Amino acid sequence: MYNSKIIGLGYYVPENVVTNDDLAQVMDTNDAWIQERTGIKERRHVIRGEDTTTTMGVKAAQIAIDRAGIAKDDIDFIVFATLSPDYYFPGPGVLVQRDLGIKTVGALDVRNQCSGFIYALSVADQYIKSGMYRNVLVIGSELHSHGLDMTTRGRAVSVIFGDGAGAAILTREEDTDKGILSTHLHSEGQHAEELSLIAPGMGKRWVTDIINDDDPNDESYYPYMNGQFVFKNAVVRFSEVILEGLAANNLSPKDINLLVPHQANLRISQFIQKKFDLSDDQVYNNIMKYGNTTAASIPIALTEAWEEAKVNEGDLVVLAAFGSGFTWGSAIIRW
Ligand code: UT7
Repeated sequence: MYNSKIIGLGYYVPENVVTNDDLAQVMDTNDAWIQERTGIKERRHVIRGEDTTTTMGVKAAQIAIDRAGIAKDDIDFIVFATLSPDYYFPGPGVLVQRDLGIKTVGALDVRNQCSGFIYALSVADQYIKSGMYRNVLVIGSELHSHGLDMTTRGRAVSVIFGDGAGAAILTREEDTDKGILSTHLHSEGQHAEELSLIAPGMGKRWVTDIINDDDPNDESYYPYMNGQFVFKNAVVRFSEVILEGLAANNLSPKDINLLVPHQANLRISQFIQKKFDLSDDQVYNNIMKYGNTTAASIPIALTEAWEEAKVNEGDLVVLAAFGSGFTWGSAIIRW
């Protein structure tokens, strides 16, 4: 038996900073509301034509590969998590394989939104634990800004989300007390539509409807979120899945060196911090700078924490996420 461990991390965010005041120029919102309800001060938006979900993922991956000290041809498998793929199909995994010039290894796309990176990590971990692969590239990348309703109608969603990408290289670890100790995944499809983007799925319309649809009032082309309902579920599920992961390893919240929660809302992170009696140093947040970048938020935050020397050998690092699906999960890591 093996474990898997992270040996390289990287992130990329577009240069274009969009502040809360910038958003107030195009919709009825304000800096005070956004900061008070979400903690967000600014986010990054791709300037049209400069990046895609794939190109951001490639840039983050290149940094992770360099830091891991491996060659591209050492990568045995690619897992790519996103809710904002470049194409309806094929998914961005194969585009990364092509753009990075990696040999013809398998490439898997994960569609689990805010918990996409945890799901992707879990898949990579299992392949390595089973001995099937040695080095796996895991990417979370999102280009939200091109798909948001940037009018007052969409303000409850559009002020929250931002663009960016993060990546990790996982490799085989012979010491099973180190690396990813366990991952824990859940779903509750009963609430699928509470945080969703219905179009352009094939469930409700024919492609000719999409081509001919010029109805400016059709909101199904934009993401929908029942904010308060999602918030209430998030705080419960975050707590549950962190405790589940710790208990599976005979650990408790006091053993956590660093919790890197999915950056959904600063208020959610603060709720968890208080509930588990963690100090500011034990919880990493960067939603203030980037907003909610969905599948990219954990790898971006983990990379920044690592760059700031907040992740050290022997530390217990806990990753946790909750989001659309609903899906949620955690990863318990001994660094
Ligand atoms: O990443 C996946 C998981 N996501 C989450 O976990 C997010 C969970 N939910 C949330 O973070 C919060 O529910 C939001 C930040 C989305 C919204 O905060 P809220 O405190 O739940 O606000 P609300 O939706 O209840 O809206 C309160 C008021 C409404 O006005 P009225 O009806 O009270 O007059 C909204 O119309 O705030 C208004 N509002 C805004 N005002 C200014 C909504 N969006 C905005 C805005 N600027 N951007």
